[in-house]
Amino acid sequence: MSSRFDIIHKDTAGRIGRLTTPHGVVETPTVMPVINPNIQTIKPSEMRDFGAQILITNSYIIYRKDELREKALKDGLHALLDFDGPIMTDSGSFQLSVYGEVEVTNEQIIDFQQKIGSDIGVPLDIPTPPDVSFERASEELDITIERLQAARKLVTGDMLLAGPVQGSSYMQLRERCARTLSETGFDVYPFGAVVPLMESYRYADLVDVIAASKKGLDPTAPVHLFGAGHPMMFALAVALGCDLFDSAAYALYAKDRRYITSRGTYHVDDLKYLPCSCPICLKYSPEELKKAHNSTELLARHNLYVTFEEIRIIKQAIWEGNLLELVEQRCRSHPRMLEALKQMYTHSEWLEKLDPASKSTFFYCGPESAKRPEVLRFANQLERFTIRGSAFIRPAPIKLDSGYDNVLVFKPPFGAYPQELGEIYPLNAEVPRTPDQESLERAYVNTIRLAELNPETEFTYLLVERFRHTLVDKLESLPNVQIIVGHNP
Ligand code: GUN
Ligand code: ZN
Repeated sequence: MSSRFDIIHKDTAGRIGRLTTPHGVVETPTVMPVINPNIQTIKPSEMRDFGAQILITNSYIIYRKDELREKALKDGLHALLDFDGPIMTDSGSFQLSVYGEVEVTNEQIIDFQQKIGSDIGVPLDIPTPPDVSFERASEELDITIERLQAARKLVTGDMLLAGPVQGSSYMQLRERCARTLSETGFDVYPFGAVVPLMESYRYADLVDVIAASKKGLDPTAPVHLFGAGHPMMFALAVALGCDLFDSAAYALYAKDRRYITSRGTYHVDDLKYLPCSCPICLKYSPEELKKAHNSTELLARHNLYVTFEEIRIIKQAIWEGNLLELVEQRCRSHPRMLEALKQMYTHSEWLEKLDPASKSTFFYCGPESAKRPEVLRFANQLERFTIRGSAFIRPAPIKLDSGYDNVLVFKPPFGAYPQELGEIYPLNAEVPRTPDQESLERAYVNTIRLAELNPETEFTYLLVERFRHTLVDKLESLPNVQIIVGHNP
């Protein structure tokens, strides 16, 4: 079967892709607004106006209510919702995780999703929550995998089938599950049971779950982060390789009178100004928005506009090759997001393999940038520089004859590199003139390594004040390194 997911452009583990469904092509990353078949704050037929290309609804809610079930079976899901684009359907697993049971079997709900004409169906996986015992996680995962494989055999038409990755907080279970599902072959891989992590701001744990699950999958497989609807964390999740999100947040937050932004959420009563230029925020003053008889609907509309705005910002960043700069900005919105950023860079060895060799200019945005995959890649390639004779390491390139066989530039967070490579990505990075400790440490560790790799070469290092660091002593202690102190540049 030819792939239903084409990758157009990449940055870090993120990508712009095209997913082909029976009702059309969806460009990812994107968000699927959650449609409750019973309550619709905003009509599905209006969703395209916000930027939505695909919706998600719950087949179990439709299945359980006679009136909805009969109309869906008779006229189809698309007529029921009055939307002619792609629609994904969930299976009732979320209800299973909330109520402990559902009145439907895996076979019944798969059959129903096919009959009503869903574009992407989901089997009845078990969303095992975080922090349960290994025994429970493992037992429930076995049942989930059995059901998913049974569902794979039941789907005969053109409905795409999702294979949710479970495994609770056990990274080895997540990775093994992803690998097993990959071998069976699904069309979309949702990462499940992550809602409790997001609700408790455990974004660093979420990073580990995404990374472990991704490591078990074919990197070209489309990934959905189940239940993730707050735009603040989209950039991070996209950089880790998530392609689809679903948002009930736009409506749920609106019900609680909360106003979403890409930096976090406000209670509408706390807004003195509206920091947004969507049609709602331009039309209403904060006071009018608070008092409007339909303020829930207005807030839901604003929430949807900013959700899709963030998606476009992320796509442009992937296109330009500065997704990590965007991630580093967004992760400064909340201390727990900053933790998640640091956690993401503990996976730089993996990210480096997926990251394109050349992108737009690397911008150093803070101490975390010293751990970026590009910096790690530079460190891993130090063996490739063979430097013979004498070498002069200085803070900036020179055009004049230096009297040395080699001129190297010292640039934190990278370290010393031959000056002729200075225009090449990522060494053409924009970095602060005065580096932070993390950046200097990384640069000196690399420079020490370079001197050790070339023991026959005599290195002369021109140290300037702003590059002072405790590791200078270690560099100076090497038999082939001599340090001279300079004042410029
Ligand atoms: N919605 C939110 N999380 C999940 C999950 O783990 N599985 C399914 N099927 N739906 C979800
Ligand atoms: Zn707005």
